[in-house]
Amino acid sequence: MTVIRFSDLCAQGAVAGQRVFIRADLNVPQDDHGAITEDTRIRASVACIQMALDAGAAVMVTSHLGRPTEGAFKLADSLVPVARRLSELLKRPVPLLGNWLGGVPVAPGQVVLLENCRINVGEKKNNEALARQMAELCDIFVHDAFGTAHRAEASTYGIAEYAKVACAGPLLAAEMDAISKALASPKRPLVAIVAGSKVSTKLTILKSLSANVDQLIVGGGIANTFMLASGLKIGKSLAEPDLLAEAKAVMEAMKARGAAVPIPVDVVTAKTFAADAPATTKAATEVADDDLILDIGPKTAAALAQQLKAAGTIVWNGPVGVFEFAAFENGTRVLAQAIAQSSAFSIAGGGDTLAAIAKYGIERDMGYISTGGGAFLEVLEGKTLPAFEVLMRRGQMQAKPVVVAPSLDIARGVSMMGSEASLAKILKTVASSMTGSVPQMSAALAAGDVAKANALLHAIKGYVPIFAVDALVDQVTHVEKISKTESLAVVTPLFADLLPQLDGLLQEIGVFLAQN
Ligand code: 3PG
Ligand code: MG
Repeated sequence: MTVIRFSDLCAQGAVAGQRVFIRADLNVPQDDHGAITEDTRIRASVACIQMALDAGAAVMVTSHLGRPTEGAFKLADSLVPVARRLSELLKRPVPLLGNWLGGVPVAPGQVVLLENCRINVGEKKNNEALARQMAELCDIFVHDAFGTAHRAEASTYGIAEYAKVACAGPLLAAEMDAISKALASPKRPLVAIVAGSKVSTKLTILKSLSANVDQLIVGGGIANTFMLASGLKIGKSLAEPDLLAEAKAVMEAMKARGAAVPIPVDVVTAKTFAADAPATTKAATEVADDDLILDIGPKTAAALAQQLKAAGTIVWNGPVGVFEFAAFENGTRVLAQAIAQSSAFSIAGGGDTLAAIAKYGIERDMGYISTGGGAFLEVLEGKTLPAFEVLMRRGQMQAKPVVVAPSLDIARGVSMMGSEASLAKILKTVASSMTGSVPQMSAALAAGDVAKANALLHAIKGYVPIFAVDALVDQVTHVEKISKTESLAVVTPLFADLLPQLDGLLQEIGVFLAQN
């Protein structure tokens, strides 16, 4: 994967003094008064911001919050509470800036939070003009919003196309690394828990996991649909009878591979959906017509817990029962504790799952907790997230293999200098000076000294038109011009293309001189 990592740019010293635009996902749940009820995403975004500050950048951060109407700012959409929390976590002031598209006053070593980016007209539809306007604000765009990486919006996608440099922040990179560790070459058995109210919303993920996992534990309304598909009665429980064929197909695909979808052998039921509804534990074959299944039963939970403890890798999305109600939390709690005790690499994502992890205090026992909801699911589905697609494209452009083209134009040289002998004379001088200056340009860039690399190139620029092909003359002129004003991050890939061409030119000169 050729995504440029922000941490690498920082380590190369390419970020100092640069304007860095970080797209974070600070979309946190709030209560009716706007107070933040869960701040995981803000805490997870601190590392990237701190990294940028430590590297000496002028830092702009933005995020969406909720789903506001574009062009119609309301106080409830404001990032004010987020700015306050971020400021506490960073232990420094974090001013919040509205109407920021025209320009952002921020100096190196400072950070500003840019008001809810979904207020900007054209954000959702990835409007090109808007994306370009945002790209103009910065030297380096950092995508660190894993939770929003499945959206192709102006601040997550378009900006990555037009920014001078576009790279992945540490959170985005860590999320992708963790999920590929879980799914690409997992330690087996690989057990997935996919639970939630509807099969329909998770059908694609069930199908794609059924081709890869060893056990596919289903829960909630999804489990009810699978119970129906196995010929069990589910009373008036939530299910999607029109998806029975799909559920059967998943079970058959699993069976064909020697894997399984474990169907509950017992369940906890109630007559109404309420916290105080009397709970009855019964065999899965005994569900009455007026029963609601609200949890898996203790035998089922114990059997699944054994599988989880024996697993090599666990992927968890969704609680298996109504764990918010004490009488129906047993299944989710038992599975959570089994995951905590298992030596498997475990990865979890999704809002309800995170709430369950918090409720049972097993954060530290998880291998990785994703900040993504929809994004986490889409990665599990095997999709390439738009954020990654564009960052890979940008990364490839900057890291494309260099093809060294013929560079010496002897006919031109002879006509400019009058004879082969006079051309040989000047080439001898040129070769001796360039042999030193090409590695010096490399070294200057490695030391972050763009001005020095520019000066060295400037010295060459004067004489290449005498004997080099047009393409190389143009390339030298272009890189020399850009490196006069642009940052190390922008200039480095240009030199990476140019220096091998200059090496090639030197070799051709060597061949010519050997013959003349
Ligand atoms: C989320 O909460 O899943 C992300 O922040 C994305 O938000 P969205 O679903 O409103 O795009
Ligand atoms: Mg909200």
